[in-house]
Amino acid sequence: MESQGKTLTFQKCFKIVIAQFCLAIILFSYYNYVNRSVFIDKSAYTNINQEPANTTKLILLWVWPFGSKFPLNDCPPPYTNISGCLYTDNKTLYSSADAVVFHHRDVCYSRKQLPQAPRPPNQYWVWFNLESPSHSANLHLMDNLINLTMSYRADSDIFSPYGWLEPNQQQEDNFTIPPKTKLVAWAVSNWNPSSKRVRYYQELKKYLSVDIYGRQHLPLPGDDNGKTLSKYKFYFSFENSIHEDYITEKLWLNALTYGCVPVVLGPSRKSYERFIPKDSFIHVDDFPTPEELAKYILKLDKDEDAYQQYFTWRSRLHPIGNTNWQTHYCRVCKALKEAPMHKTISKLGEWYK
Ligand SMILES: *[C@@H]1O[C@H](CO)[C@@H](O)[C@H](O)[C@H]1NC(C)=O
Ligand SMILES: *[C@@H]1O[C@H](CO)[C@@H](O)[C@H](O)[C@H]1NC(C)=O
Ligand SMILES: *[C@@H]1O[C@H](CO)[C@@H](O)[C@H](O)[C@H]1NC(C)=O
Ligand SMILES: *[C@@H]1O[C@H](CO)[C@@H](O)[C@H](O)[C@H]1NC(C)=O
Ligand SMILES: *[C@@H]1O[C@H](CO)[C@@H](O)[C@H](O)[C@H]1NC(C)=O
Repeated sequence: MESQGKTLTFQKCFKIVIAQFCLAIILFSYYNYVNRSVFIDKSAYTNINQEPANTTKLILLWVWPFGSKFPLNDCPPPYTNISGCLYTDNKTLYSSADAVVFHHRDVCYSRKQLPQAPRPPNQYWVWFNLESPSHSANLHLMDNLINLTMSYRADSDIFSPYGWLEPNQQQEDNFTIPPKTKLVAWAVSNWNPSSKRVRYYQELKKYLSVDIYGRQHLPLPGDDNGKTLSKYKFYFSFENSIHEDYITEKLWLNALTYGCVPVVLGPSRKSYERFIPKDSFIHVDDFPTPEELAKYILKLDKDEDAYQQYFTWRSRLHPIGNTNWQTHYCRVCKALKEAPMHKTISKLGEWYK
């Protein structure tokens, strides 16, 4: 009985499927017949308008970052090729822009700082921020508005680090350690007594003398910080707040580019090793106490061979640490050409922390 029932059901289903298939064919033919004229009209239209679609991507800077201006459409290496993109700061072009870039700090105080005109379909809103989450207010204002993120975080849609390493070309093979006459420097503009870095320093200074530059400390003379800082064997690349991937010019420029050994306080050693060789820096976490770190620095000061080991990587690589706004914005062009068709960041603050 059971098996007979099953056979009956199978036959019934088969008939239904055949019937549906026939119906679909009839409907499809009818649809094509009715729409034939439309198809013909469309192709006639494209034939008359011979011009190819304008594929140039228009990228609008909604605000200049912190108000600082720089030349647009004049990208430095390695972003010199921005063919197919046009950058502008002209807000009247908003409705035809393919992407609008918002620098967080300059738009985060009110939704009124964002475009008020209707948002064109297919336009990408790019959120740009190099400040750490601790210094990025009102992230919730950006919820469900942003399509692409651009930040120092490696998992941004547009990864925009403060610096990076490049393989040496012949000219750059001959790195020599700058002449050293001093031991440890630290340049700090934001002296927050309760921050991890200042508390660490308060303990460390009992065992090690550090030259501190910046507001309320030694003035950094002239425009060329490199001239001052490169005389130091070590530089304290202490970040103002601790977040994954938050590694700033304090490492890339002040230490690596100027030829000082970085002593880093920031994310974990593992995090740093994603970006720089493990033998290129000293991490405060390598030592149980600030006193132990001080002892190690003083020991290296007496051991030239051991000190020089921190530069062996320079025979293979060199740092790019003098990034500027242009470099960051110039990344948008390529990224836009490769962007997913559709993407929205619903809760920015859940990711950016
Ligand atoms: C294509 O669009 C860009 C930016 O909108 C504009 O500058 C350029 O003149 C356009 N090119 C043509 C051939 O219309
Ligand atoms: C520049 O980019 C365009 C389009 O993305 C590409 O066709 C061209 O080959 C690139 N030129 C160079 C020199 O990389
Ligand atoms: C901005 O673009 C509009 C429309 O193309 C143009 O009329 C205006 O002159 C531009 N403004 C500036 C400052 O370039
Ligand atoms: C680097 O060294 C090579 C030989 O070792 C020499 O030919 C070249 O001129 C040097 N380059 C610089 C910039 O000093
Ligand atoms: C960008 O995000 C907005 C807001 O969620 C959305 O309406 C739009 O379709 C998205 N655009 C693209 C190109 O992903």
